[in-house]
Amino acid sequence: MSTHQASNPAVESPDGLSGRLDGDDGDDGEAVRRQAGTAESSRANRHWWDSNADEYQDEHGSFLGDARFTWCPEGLDESEARLLGDPDALRGRTVLEIGAGAAQCSRWLTAQGAKPVALDLSHRQLQHSLRIDQQLGLAPVPLVQADAAVLPFADAAFDLACSAYGAVPFAADTARLMREVRRVLRPGGRWVFSVTHPIRWAFPDEPGPEGLTALSSYFDRTPYVEQDEQGRAVYVEHHRTLGDRVRELTSAGFRLVDLVEPEWPEGLTQEWGGWSPLRGRHLPGTAVFVTVAD
Ligand SMILES: C[S@@+](CC[C@H](N)C(=O)[O-])C[C@H]1O[C@@H](n2cnc3c(N)ncnc32)[C@H](O)[C@@H]1O
Repeated sequence: MSTHQASNPAVESPDGLSGRLDGDDGDDGEAVRRQAGTAESSRANRHWWDSNADEYQDEHGSFLGDARFTWCPEGLDESEARLLGDPDALRGRTVLEIGAGAAQCSRWLTAQGAKPVALDLSHRQLQHSLRIDQQLGLAPVPLVQADAAVLPFADAAFDLACSAYGAVPFAADTARLMREVRRVLRPGGRWVFSVTHPIRWAFPDEPGPEGLTALSSYFDRTPYVEQDEQGRAVYVEHHRTLGDRVRELTSAGFRLVDLVEPEWPEGLTQEWGGWSPLRGRHLPGTAVFVTVAD
């Protein structure tokens, strides 16, 4: 899931995105909206996630749970949502988890009898998967370090693919990413992924009332970039409107069967960056696309 909390008033950060540039890795710089291509986005995000994986797992690990499948800060859980189908039907199925982080979702899939592979760009995120398996005394989840836009698998290698806020918000060429996922899936296989709800790009990334006033254009697809003093990107997120996303999915050979907008549940008080009970009462924070490969 997105990690950031805007703190730089100079840029009205889209939701889930950061204006914080003086983090653990000592980067100082600025948050801007500018173009960022595939190579620059991938390089920046790989370094950012390697540098910030420890803090991310420390901060969010207990909410995620070591072996739970949580789709979003609203806490939607696959054991109840069943967006990948009936959990009983997962037994024996091959599943690619994309942008898996510490592979919490893959661990839940393993417990259902599925055969997941957890893929992530960040070596340090994947090391946390090994750490959790060791701590729990489990066989390690199979891990692959790769960019989701260039999947190192044969055609039709998987029955299902999923992603909880992994890779899709960070990749420059998500049309290509969708084609790659379609290539490695068998016909009829589901591809389900969650992202920051696109409408949030119109709002500042603030959990309080200031996050309820639209200050940017929903239609502005210019990437959100944090860059260092030399102008090199150190973190990038990319925006697609709902229509853009539907078009890239259908062009890649997917059929959209549901678009889930999880509501903020009664009783959930835990904030996650710009996601909060206040904003959750007014605005969707997450979009989960449920698709089937033609
Ligand atoms: C917000 S985290 C989500 C991780 C996990 N699903 C969770 O909910 O904690 C995003 C993950 O996507 C990974 N990622 C970012 N860009 C990627 C890319 N192009 N290919 C593969 N993984 C990527 C990051 O390394 C990070 O682990």
